[in-house]
Amino acid sequence: MCGIFGVVLKTGRVAPVIHQALERLEYRGYDSVGLATVSEKGLEVRKDRGSIRDVDLKHRLDDMAGRIGVGHTRWATHGAPSMENAHPHVSCKGDVAVVHNGIIENFLELRKQLEERKHVFRSRTDTEVIPHLIEEYVSAGEDFVESVRLAARQLEGSFAIAAVSTSRPDLIVCVKKESPLVIGLSDSSSYCASDVSAFLPLTRKAIAMEEDDLAVLETGQTRIINFRTGQELERNVSDITWSIEDATKGGYGHFMLKEINEQPLAIRNVLRIQPVYCGLMASKLEKARQVCLLGCGTSYHACLAASYLFTKLAGLQVQPVIASEFVEQYGHLIDKDSIILAVSQSGETADTLESVRFAKSKGASIMGITNVMGSTITRLSEVYIGQNSGPEVGVAATKTFTSQVSVLARLALVLAEKRNTLPIEELTKLKSSLLQIPKAMESALLTEPRVKELARKYRDRSSFCFLGRGINFTTALEARLKLLELSYLPSLAYPAGESKHGFIAVVDQDYPIVFVAPKDETYHKIVGNVMEMKARNASTIGVIDAGDERLKELLDDYIEIPTPVTSLLTPLVYVIPLQLFAYWMAVERGCDPDRPRNLAKSVTVL
Ligand code: AGP
Repeated sequence: MCGIFGVVLKTGRVAPVIHQALERLEYRGYDSVGLATVSEKGLEVRKDRGSIRDVDLKHRLDDMAGRIGVGHTRWATHGAPSMENAHPHVSCKGDVAVVHNGIIENFLELRKQLEERKHVFRSRTDTEVIPHLIEEYVSAGEDFVESVRLAARQLEGSFAIAAVSTSRPDLIVCVKKESPLVIGLSDSSSYCASDVSAFLPLTRKAIAMEEDDLAVLETGQTRIINFRTGQELERNVSDITWSIEDATKGGYGHFMLKEINEQPLAIRNVLRIQPVYCGLMASKLEKARQVCLLGCGTSYHACLAASYLFTKLAGLQVQPVIASEFVEQYGHLIDKDSIILAVSQSGETADTLESVRFAKSKGASIMGITNVMGSTITRLSEVYIGQNSGPEVGVAATKTFTSQVSVLARLALVLAEKRNTLPIEELTKLKSSLLQIPKAMESALLTEPRVKELARKYRDRSSFCFLGRGINFTTALEARLKLLELSYLPSLAYPAGESKHGFIAVVDQDYPIVFVAPKDETYHKIVGNVMEMKARNASTIGVIDAGDERLKELLDDYIEIPTPVTSLLTPLVYVIPLQLFAYWMAVERGCDPDRPRNLAKSVTVL
């Protein structure tokens, strides 16, 4: 998730306008920045790794000439943060520049074709195929607008693109497919941006671009066509009433709620990760004598979920370990035949890094799964996978948890295929179930009104306990972590079977117990647990499959998951109403869901 911006001014220089707009988009990505402007002098590009402030200090962005230009603030997915990988990317002749937000899934094969046609690539990004593709059509005699349209038709994946060219120093062409893109209009200028916050101080007149729209921006006017068919289109201009802060939150009350709602897109981006990376990681994992999955907090919960996926799907025993205990617990067993798979959204968590460095010193192989390209975890790893969730502003991890578990589920399926541990039909079924997860998440998000109701009903309780069985013990742990870090309510989580060996002593009148209870192989046992707790007058709340009449009858309250999914993938969907429960409980109790007390987004101290 990056921020893109483009502007055509009647008069004046665009660079300061782009600079300020990128500052308003910086929450979308902040590892590198760049601008391209077109003037009588031709195309000028200034870009580098770092925050807007640092890059401006070094490259004096406002000095760039021209009344037409585009800008980009980056959240790396392909190619670590560097000057070469920063946007804009340009064609071989340097006459076309492109900024892009999204993931080009077929970039490897397009790049190969273009390199065979003698195009020279300067970066490791997926985006750079776009200016070279446009250049191909321009060299074949097409005009710039048509070249962008034809190039866009070749792209697969998600993309919001803005392109400029010296051949048309009077316009910008932008294209939308899945990634957000809005147009801003005023008498003297036209804008395109990843969200309205970028141009709100300049105009409140906006056009929301729709799927497959291509817009040609000229001073104060815009033409929109469908880039697949070339058909001319009409789009409504609406007046934006939001404040800039609202706009950066996409109209949601907090970043956390926005990020909970971004999970379907985040998982679509996990499904776009090039198979070669999962293949590389799997081939190393399956040869290892010992595999430890390391993480802290939510990332440890993803590791624990992975231990169920790896053993049940690929027959591979792995050890999920809380990173701060790794050295004490396993340090003496680590050697050159050990593999450490470190999971960390920030890639900078001190406890995880300390354990990784320790294992490395013992000769172990290090691999990583992270959300931040260029982070320390990526530099310590022989192989790493960027999970593509986009920046997570809320301190509480939400979309990064489901992204991590989805990456690990993909890995477990690749391992199962390599180790031949599943019948092909089952493997195929599981692969297609994973592809259905974004849709199932979209329907799980519809439980919000019900969840909000329950948060209000239970807001005065002083503690909660979450129970789950099998892989949904990890869902219970994650639900507990979200509730206590956001509402400061001391809460518990147990494997439901374990609850009889101690916790049950705590249970009395109206003690709220939340059951994660999909109709999977553990269903009958968890029904028994519900009855045990009801017998002690607990308040029983369940996250259940839609239409589960048995539990609807037994439970005091329930949240129905509209689209059930295959059992090993249930944490990805069942965690959503529980994230929402923690969010609304925090709001009900007057806590700030985005900035919980005493916590930092990345814990960089031991
Ligand atoms: C989760 O909501 C918390 N923010 C925290 O537990 C977090 O998961 C933990 O600090 C690990 O962070 P990492 O994934 O960046 O390493």
